[in-house]
Amino acid sequence: MSQSETRKRLLSGMQPTGTGALHLGNLEGALKNWVRLQDQYEMFCCVVDWHALTTRYHETSKIAPACREVAADYIAYGLDPKKCAIFIQSHVKEHAELHLLLSMITPLGWLERVPTFKEKRELMAEKGEGDESVSYGLLGYPCLQTADILVYRANVVPVGKDQAAHLEISREICRRFNYLYGPVFPEPQTLINEEAAVLPGTDGRKMSKSYGNAVYAADSAEKVAETIKGAFTTPTKLRKTDPGVPEGCVVCQWRKVFDPEGYRTSWEEDRSGERGCMQNKKELTELLNSFLEPIRKRRAELLSDPAELDRILVDGAERARATASETLRLVNEALGLR
Ligand code: TRP
Repeated sequence: MSQSETRKRLLSGMQPTGTGALHLGNLEGALKNWVRLQDQYEMFCCVVDWHALTTRYHETSKIAPACREVAADYIAYGLDPKKCAIFIQSHVKEHAELHLLLSMITPLGWLERVPTFKEKRELMAEKGEGDESVSYGLLGYPCLQTADILVYRANVVPVGKDQAAHLEISREICRRFNYLYGPVFPEPQTLINEEAAVLPGTDGRKMSKSYGNAVYAADSAEKVAETIKGAFTTPTKLRKTDPGVPEGCVVCQWRKVFDPEGYRTSWEEDRSGERGCMQNKKELTELLNSFLEPIRKRRAELLSDPAELDRILVDGAERARATASETLRLVNEALGLR
């Protein structure tokens, strides 16, 4: 038996962002873990362009370039296209076929109750977009996500806590399918990474492109310096000699992540008033830039050589399709359609 047959299967995916490049929260919170998992699992990593259409159907031209950037970030950050299939969701049409079939057995009520759907609907109403912009596709988001997972008969899905409700629905749809037509799919388990570093945004809120509080893989050294200059620190530490509270300071929190050995000394000095926020920011900027430099370089290389990135994505899609088409064969057989 080949190694791939003995290993469990893992599927993961990210939406292309509006800005293209991933931010440090995505990299440290999710991707770092994926990189670690690629030796353990038979792994499929996609960029979900169809999911982006659920809310960004009015700016479709930005989606494909953003997907390429995310794929470049996957690789620049350490996902190895030889070890794991890296591809764009829409390049593997089997996701769509399975989504359609699963949509027939997914009760409407399950989808209407998903918290992210309710939130997005409220957000769109706030923006004055009216209920007409809440599409059938948006409601079906978790069903499409389920197809992404089940089409590879994946055993595990590494996601953040924010995706727990989606994964719960995926398991329910999976059980319903297996109950109705026979056991085709293993029930996918959520792999929550408890150790994942939570990097707050520079303003202390959740790191998000919409808050403008993030550092991106694509940022220049100067841009990183500028962003860190504006980061929140201990509000009561106005002078270097004032006592800092590292637990509540964004710069100190980031330092802990990017300097896991040395941060303790800097924290103590911050607390005791031996060091000021300026020095903290300067050192953090240096740490971040030396961490990001090779990633920046690799992603720029990949993006400047479209043929090479195409080759990786075509190869990834082919490998994904091999498994996905076998699943659809089993599914159609179970349904009695073929
Ligand atoms: N909903 C996920 C997110 O926003 C992205 C996603 C789509 C996904 N399909 C998936 C994640 C399948 C894991 C598995 O992050």
